[in-house]
Amino acid sequence: MRTLPRIVLFTIFLGLIVACHPKPVKTIENLKSDCIGESTASAKYAAFAEKAKAEGFDTVAIMFTAISKSEAIHAANDINVLQKLGEKAVELQLGKFEVLSTKENLASAIKGEKYEVETLYPGFIGTAKKERCAEGVKTFTRAYSTEKKHLEFNSDALTSLNSQGEIAIPAGWFVCPVCGNTYNNTSVTAACDLCMNTPDNFIVFN
Ligand SMILES: [Fe+2]
Ligand SMILES: [Fe+2]
Repeated sequence: MRTLPRIVLFTIFLGLIVACHPKPVKTIENLKSDCIGESTASAKYAAFAEKAKAEGFDTVAIMFTAISKSEAIHAANDINVLQKLGEKAVELQLGKFEVLSTKENLASAIKGEKYEVETLYPGFIGTAKKERCAEGVKTFTRAYSTEKKHLEFNSDALTSLNSQGEIAIPAGWFVCPVCGNTYNNTSVTAACDLCMNTPDNFIVFN
C-alpha cells in the first residue's frame, strides 16, 4: 500500500476511535462538583480541628487535621483529572458548614462521610464507568475507599469520647500525598493499599 492511502486510512481509524470515546460530560461535571465538595470538607475538618483544640481534645484535633489534608488531596486529584480531560481550573466556591461542639462535629462528620460512601461516590464511579472514563473511575474509587476509612475513624473517635475520653484514639496519623489514603499508627501498612506509595513518603501528623 502506498504511504498516502495509509495515512488517510490511519486518520479515518483515529477519527473512529475518538467518535467511539466521546467526552465524559457527566463525569466532568461530577469532578467539578467533587472538587468543591472535597475542598469544603477540607476546610470543615480544619475548622473542626481548631474547635477540638480549643476544647482540649488534642488527639481528635490531630485526626481532624490529617483528614483535612486527605480531602485537600482528593480535590487536587480532581483538578489533575479535569486538566487531563482538557478542562480549565474549577472556580472554587466553598459550601457552608457549621462548627459546633467536638462531639457534634464528629456526628456531623460521620453523617457526611456516610453519604459519600453510600450514595455520592458509588454514583460518580458508576457514571465514570458508563462513560468509559478510566481516570475518573480511578480518582473516585480512591476517594471512596478513603472516605470509608474516614467514616470508621470518626465513628471510633466518637465512641471513645462518649465512653473513655481520648485514650482509645490513636495519636499518630499519616496521609498518602498521592491519593489521600489515611492511616493511623495502628493501621499503617508497608505500602499504600490504594496507590502503592511507601510510608516514608507519607505526611505525618502527631
Ligand atoms: Fe473524608
Ligand atoms: Fe496512596
